[in-house]
Amino acid sequence: MKKEDQVKLFDKQAKRYAKRNSQHSFDKTLREQLFQHISGDILEVSVGTGTNFPYYHQADSITAVDFSERMLEYAKLAAEENDLPVELHLGDVEQMDFPRNQFDCVVSTLSLCSYPNPEHVLSQLSKWCKEEGSILLLEHGMSSNALYRWLQNRVNTFVKKRGGCHMNRDIIGLVEAAPMTIDDAEHRKLGTVHLLWCTPNHK
Ligand SMILES: C[S@@+](CC[C@H](N)C(=O)[O-])C[C@H]1O[C@@H](n2cnc3c(N)ncnc32)[C@H](O)[C@@H]1O
Repeated sequence: MKKEDQVKLFDKQAKRYAKRNSQHSFDKTLREQLFQHISGDILEVSVGTGTNFPYYHQADSITAVDFSERMLEYAKLAAEENDLPVELHLGDVEQMDFPRNQFDCVVSTLSLCSYPNPEHVLSQLSKWCKEEGSILLLEHGMSSNALYRWLQNRVNTFVKKRGGCHMNRDIIGLVEAAPMTIDDAEHRKLGTVHLLWCTPNHK
């Protein structure tokens, strides 16, 4: 799918994502758990509507990127509501760059499913994170359950076309192959959802 078509798909979904911010959902508990100790200078890629902002009250600065203007409009509102120092960037995470060792904490939630080249993005997340910093991931992908995996493979093309999202990525395989170490991991929902606490590996 062309990038501009992918942007349009996410623009269309922005209102629905924003509505979800105010609802109690399963992923809220996971986000709470993932961000328990988050502080310092934070980079969040593919920020969407700012769903994670309520957990950033200990941040010194927040840099947030998304290629959907509609998503960022809602993210701006969420930053104001939470009274946070957020700098929003409209741009493609796969094309942009930040200096090496820039951020104390680099965050990606539910975004690795969208990129044509998730390997490149993971490598960039590691580069942008300070050596002693942390990379926090909440991602979904291929189930550890064979039956559910079969179903995911069946519906993947349809979901990709409608929502811009790959259902069946091997998230753990991708992160293990990336220049980072998984320090802690939890897996939920038949192994489709992963909470990962990682540190960059700059060697
Ligand atoms: C499934 S939503 C997740 C939003 C948010 N991270 C969350 O946890 O709710 C995926 C987000 O990634 C953004 N996105 C996808 N590919 C991107 C890219 N290459 N560059 C920047 N943003 C991207 C979309 O616009 C959308 O906001």
